[in-house]
Amino acid sequence: LWTPAKIIEDQVARVRDQVGDRHVLLALSGGVDSSVVAALLHRAIGDQLTCVFVDNGLLRKNEGGQVMETFAKHMGVKVIRVDAEDLFLDNLKGEADPEAKRKIIGNTFIEVFDEEASKIEGVDFLAQGTIYPDVIESAASKTGKAHVIKSHHNVGGLPETMKLKLVEPLRELFKDEVRKLGVELGLPYDMVYRHPFPGPGLGVRILGEVKKEYADILREADAIFIEELHNADWYHKTSQAFAVFLPVKSVGVVGDGRRYEWVIALRAVETIDFMTARWAHLPYELLETVSNRIINEISGVSRVTYDVSSKPPATIEWE
Ligand code: XMP
Repeated sequence: LWTPAKIIEDQVARVRDQVGDRHVLLALSGGVDSSVVAALLHRAIGDQLTCVFVDNGLLRKNEGGQVMETFAKHMGVKVIRVDAEDLFLDNLKGEADPEAKRKIIGNTFIEVFDEEASKIEGVDFLAQGTIYPDVIESAASKTGKAHVIKSHHNVGGLPETMKLKLVEPLRELFKDEVRKLGVELGLPYDMVYRHPFPGPGLGVRILGEVKKEYADILREADAIFIEELHNADWYHKTSQAFAVFLPVKSVGVVGDGRRYEWVIALRAVETIDFMTARWAHLPYELLETVSNRIINEISGVSRVTYDVSSKPPATIEWE
């Protein structure tokens, strides 16, 4: 009988068998797949698992704290948090091209992860949150964004020198099954049913050159949008929702003066497969609340827009 509990039991046995008394390394991103692998491996092998969580400075508000809270504090998983914001921002300096930014972020991730991994002794295995659609996808095509997407968290990009054997306990599972496993393993519902978040993070939601000032503003705007979606019970009616930072200055009137400040775009979509998507018909009242809060609470933003483009041709992300 296929139940999450049964799959966990089987995978725990398989992992123990494969790993024995050796040590396993996992790049924990905080996304569903790597989180479920972390919880599963922790159950199977406890302290033989070490996770590395790289804070690239392009995460959502409080994201790093939440990952550490859930795994290190509540579950007792060994997690090394690497604060690499400065390195990522330095490497991104002056780069405005979306695909070049993706490459820089991916390569910097590998550099940081590799350096951290080399400090840990006696590791023989690398665990990955590869799921069944990833297996199909990389068999079908080695090009295109979809492949690039996962590559920086999957082994494709990791240095050959590491010579680690792979542990991929989710290889035969679909996303909805992975989510059920996560819940069964005791992960917080909000973590397991969160909207997808791209590997390059806010790096592709700040149009053009990435700067810390922009990332800080975007983090706040995004957090307000997501909070209000939850308050209005709309979060789970959308498949993905987020704010985008537009590096253009638009006029606003404050008191007697005119101020030229940044623009935030809101994006929310409904989709089954992320290949096509319809913009979410959010209630005007909700948009009004979000817009007022962003303009009033975040200094430096004078205008909020809502993206009413469907995919195709408009992609879900703005870059
Ligand atoms: P688009 O923008 O192509 O996005 O309509 C489809 C889905 O893919 C995600 N996405 C990415 N995920 N790295 C990722 O890990 C990327 O470079 C990337 N680009 C887009 C996007 O968030 C959406 O869920």
